Amino acid sequence: MSSTPADETAPTAPGSAAARLPMPLGEALYTLRAIRRFRPEPLAGGVLRAILEAATRAPSCGNSQGWRFIVVRDRAQMQAFARLYREAWWAKRAEVGIRSVEDFPAGHRVMPRAHRLAEQFAEVPAMVLLCATDRGPDAAACVVPAAQNLLLAARGLGVGGTITTLHPLVEERVHALFGIPAEAQVVYCIPLGYPATPFGAVRRRPLAEVLAEGRWDTPAAWADAGARGP
Ligand SMILES: Cc1cc2nc3c(=O)[nH]c(=O)nc-3n(C[C@H](O)[C@H](O)[C@H](O)COP(=O)(O)O)c2cc1C
Repeated sequence: MSSTPADETAPTAPGSAAARLPMPLGEALYTLRAIRRFRPEPLAGGVLRAILEAATRAPSCGNSQGWRFIVVRDRAQMQAFARLYREAWWAKRAEVGIRSVEDFPAGHRVMPRAHRLAEQFAEVPAMVLLCATDRGPDAAACVVPAAQNLLLAARGLGVGGTITTLHPLVEERVHALFGIPAEAQVVYCIPLGYPATPFGAVRRRPLAEVLAEGRWDTPAAWADAGARGP
């Protein structure tokens, strides 16, 4: 694979793509909430470029870089896609017996928000279809880290978004809409825009609940913030 010498010798030099992302890594990681509501301002090409360039710096299987990023900003294309996205969203819900808003599980925090995005996808300022150049779960897994790079870079530039998935029901029509070849696949669809809801601390289970040392069922004594490190 080719890479520019500048990338290798001075990846963070002033004026480099990396230097456009000065937010501390800790701040970006710990405040990277899913953003599903956006202000209407469009994303400039330079901002998208910085976000997507960071995505292409992600690791992949054997450095295969078997990804393709399709950016969509055209309103007519977005409207056509939004219809498919909505259909896909409800198709996924139907698989677990949810056929209307009344069926949403009580107290579920995410579903109403994801539903709102599904209903209003046409208004999303931009979206990226993260595609794999081959089919199958292995090819898909190889491009997954690019999604997190993309979202972290976006966060660093004050741009929000979230990972979303489609459904096989709409696959052929999505391929037709964006000219995606049959041997490729859409892995994630990532809406992007300046957030209408705030970034902020993400809610996650404490480390101690999910951490083991040596064996699955052996807690790590150092998991708590107050404990001494390993
Ligand atoms: C593989 C994957 C698929 C996801 N699919 C969807 C989706 O289809 N629609 C959606 O609105 N959010 C989707 N999400 C976003 C998650 O709901 C979100 O990351 C999670 O609820 C944590 O949100 P938070 O970071 O704001 O706490 C997906 C996330 C992942 C990692």
